[in-house]
Amino acid sequence: MAITDRGLAVHDLAPNIGSRIDADADVLLSGKYAKEIRALLEMRGVLIFPRIGFSDEQQVEFTSTLGTLAFDYNGVAVSEGKQQAIFKVSLDEAVSPTARSLKNSLLWHLDGTTHETPILASVLSARQLAPEGGDTEWANTYAAYEALSADDKQAIDGLRVVHSNLQLQRNINPELSYEQFRRARNSPARSQPLIWKHRNGRKSLVVGATAGFVEGMTHDDSLDLLVRLRDWATQPQFVYRHHWQVGDLAVWDNTGTLHRALPYAPDSGRLMHRSMVAGEESIG
Ligand SMILES: [Fe+2]
Repeated sequence: MAITDRGLAVHDLAPNIGSRIDADADVLLSGKYAKEIRALLEMRGVLIFPRIGFSDEQQVEFTSTLGTLAFDYNGVAVSEGKQQAIFKVSLDEAVSPTARSLKNSLLWHLDGTTHETPILASVLSARQLAPEGGDTEWANTYAAYEALSADDKQAIDGLRVVHSNLQLQRNINPELSYEQFRRARNSPARSQPLIWKHRNGRKSLVVGATAGFVEGMTHDDSLDLLVRLRDWATQPQFVYRHHWQVGDLAVWDNTGTLHRALPYAPDSGRLMHRSMVAGEESIG
């Protein structure tokens, strides 16, 4: 356990990723530690606030202390109103209208790769748990990049990857009908650098389930690289796995991590409430 200069109690959960913060809910909502939490987020990838038990309003308030509240995945506020800033995360189609597409949340990914400016951070709170499964894992893509060999770093520098909704749809259903395929093909896709060169001077890998192909490579060479780098980035030494308790809150840096949920039954009742901090820099 370390106490920061300003008195925040921080306990690292794994060497390369994840810290637990033990703080009083009122102090967190006051924004007193917002700057420190932002800095920790970049350094540690994911921060866990055990059993903090925020209401939706409090979660939105806390999220707002960290940056600009996002109202959709684009990271752009499209409407005002606190309730709309909370999204229900559930695989149960009776609970969440996007439950079907959330099947992709079981695959390693970062959010917003088909947008110019992906969201900066996500805030997730556990409302109901599955009796079995449903842990969440995060992988530190800054640490994974930094641990690559000099040869690998050089070989992938300058490469671009096309991320697409088509790829996401094919993850859910590898045998799309032609009509489904055409719909997915017409939905957002974007070419992004494989290496995110951040304003802070650090670099991270942009891989995961939205990555369709590397520009200028053959199909198999492209897959070879994308699969190898995803496997590299999600090795145990870069990963933190969280076993949720009701009321736990997790905040993660979407720009320097991958995340996924571990499988759980869609009718298990598992329900998470999510809010987001708008992106502040594009990948390219
Ligand atoms: Fe996600």
